[in-house]
Amino acid sequence: MENLSRRRALTLGVALGLVGAAAPVPAWASAGSAAGTAGAGKLAGAGAAAGPGPEWIWDDAADPLMVRMIEGGHVPAINRAWEGWVNNDDPIPGGLPSDFAAYLAQVNRLPSWADQAKLERAADFNRRRDTYLFMLYGLGSGIMSTVIPREAKSVYWSAGGADMQDRAAKTFTFGYDLSELGAFKPTGQFVVTANKTRVVHAAVRHLLPQSPHWKAVADESTPISAADILVTFHSLGTYVHQKLLEWKIPYPAADQEAFLHMWQVAVHLLGVPYEHIPKTWAEAVAQSQRVLTPILTPSTEGIELAEDLLGLTAQIDLGVTRGFLNEFVRYVLSDQVGDWLGLRRDYAAAALVRTAWPAFILFREGLSPVMPGTFYMFDQFIRALAMLFLNKGESGKTTPITIPTGNRAG
Ligand code: HEM
Repeated sequence: MENLSRRRALTLGVALGLVGAAAPVPAWASAGSAAGTAGAGKLAGAGAAAGPGPEWIWDDAADPLMVRMIEGGHVPAINRAWEGWVNNDDPIPGGLPSDFAAYLAQVNRLPSWADQAKLERAADFNRRRDTYLFMLYGLGSGIMSTVIPREAKSVYWSAGGADMQDRAAKTFTFGYDLSELGAFKPTGQFVVTANKTRVVHAAVRHLLPQSPHWKAVADESTPISAADILVTFHSLGTYVHQKLLEWKIPYPAADQEAFLHMWQVAVHLLGVPYEHIPKTWAEAVAQSQRVLTPILTPSTEGIELAEDLLGLTAQIDLGVTRGFLNEFVRYVLSDQVGDWLGLRRDYAAAALVRTAWPAFILFREGLSPVMPGTFYMFDQFIRALAMLFLNKGESGKTTPITIPTGNRAG
């Protein structure tokens, strides 16, 4: 992995809105970065308890179970059996190996510290803010994941990497179920989706180290540590949180707290121990500056994934050109990231995005009475993106999450 200089990482952090103007020098700058360790940078010290840091934590409950399920050839039966297992209050499906069913019964619940009032507020916030959330998760976090080298390489070389459209749809199932009204209630679907994802990650931990392609490019022995999951959380939740503030979207303290709480519960359901999850946004932002900003860098796999993801949008009419899309990505992620990914410049579109998007926000938020001439263009763009990402177009259903049984062939 390329070791970024402190100046370069700080510049990038500022461009991404990940570093406050008056932010102190991040601790990682002197502590050394993740290169050569099994995890994604040193997370210890960010409220972590004594014991191994999250870069040394994987999933004691799910990992050994999934080794048994894969080695025993049970995965196809599990995928079939859990297809109709969707709502949080659905009974654990029949037809599962008994130890797998027992595991699900154990984990398929909210942690004791989950606060329903905050989760409900978060759901309402997601509804009120869905425009910005789609744009930021889809074009910001989604493309950022391609410059998180460990994530890009594991996604590329796992089975799902061969079909990015399907994979993107599954990932958005997670986002959709998380953002739905009542996501965490018995009739919601997020607890089940998170548990399916946790099991998929456990399968990947066993499968990927068997891929000669992944082994040739990975700088770790076992993928998807708790530290890696926290890095991804920062590329999603912490990034969006900071962008909403930067864009001056009305975002009261109670919404901020609720949005954080939703992510805390989500990350915990993915198997990250409570003591390693940031307790405040200030802690999350500091951790993100330490463990996310400095590791962002391009890779062959990431560049191809980004092209696949952006190419997906060519299949539907977004009402904008590819040049506009490239420039929107540059706008939300910085020119540095755009250059890394080789996103072709379109200077006219760049000028449009930089002036019209803030005007669109002001008008939408009732902060300006002037409706920009580009209002309908943005509106159409957002709707089309939402349809694409939610994959709701034809079926009206989200894509089922399935456990892989192998890796990408090559
Ligand atoms: C699978 C979400 C962290 C690598 C999935 C899936 C979801 C998901 C919904 C299932 C969909 C699918 O099969 O494609 C998340 C979330 C994360 C997170 C919300 C953190 C907040 C990570 C990290 C890595 C990773 C840190 C690697 C460093 C993978 C891989 C798959 C996967 C390789 C399997 C794809 C396949 O089937 O081949 N993830 N993930 N994920 N995730 Fe994650």
